[in-house]
Amino acid sequence: MIDHRPKKPGGPTGHSRRDFLRGSGVAAATAVLTGQAAMGLDEAQAAEGEPKVLAGTIQITLKVNGQDRSCSVEPRSTLLDTLRHRLDVTGPKRVCDRGTCGACTAIVDGDPIYSCTTLAVSCQGHTIETLESFDTGERGVPHAFHQNDALMCGYCTPGFVTACKAFLDKHPDASLEEIRKGIDGNICRCGTYIGVLAAAQAAAKAMKGA
Ligand code: FES
Ligand code: FES
Repeated sequence: MIDHRPKKPGGPTGHSRRDFLRGSGVAAATAVLTGQAAMGLDEAQAAEGEPKVLAGTIQITLKVNGQDRSCSVEPRSTLLDTLRHRLDVTGPKRVCDRGTCGACTAIVDGDPIYSCTTLAVSCQGHTIETLESFDTGERGVPHAFHQNDALMCGYCTPGFVTACKAFLDKHPDASLEEIRKGIDGNICRCGTYIGVLAAAQAAAKAMKGA
């Protein structure tokens, strides 16, 4: 069976995060056509020889910000729709809804993913983190964005904050260039990249207690 779990993003020495995210969107889209999506369907439907009916709703449980959250979704439901419309977790934003901008970024098993192109059913059994669980104090990434004027309209900001958090958790000593590459799956149409990079560097320092 194909492994549809989110793959590891590129770090300082790997592929860029944009390369990774592009791949994760394809994997998520493929999942709906395979047994992965059938995981949440009734066992009888998923039994060998039976057609897998991808319709109706299924009950799923997702571990979101440390809590088990249950809801019913259609098998085709994205993680973004499920978080926002079923679980009232609105940190991830819908902007492009097609895996290009990063506004919908969530963290699954420590890796940043586009939640608009990830199926909710494929996230069962994995840990999901969103903006709502982040430290809002002086050592947190949101504070660094505020202090470094890292936003204008703010549409991209939740995604950038989430991408920075995911990257810095794994690469606390990353250089400026490595941070730039690590968060390049996100786009800011207002062009606040200088502020975003400054915020990421400040957050890296603060997270280490420097
Ligand atoms: S809304 Fe998901 S990548 Fe733009
Ligand atoms: S602050 Fe406007 S899109 Fe980034």
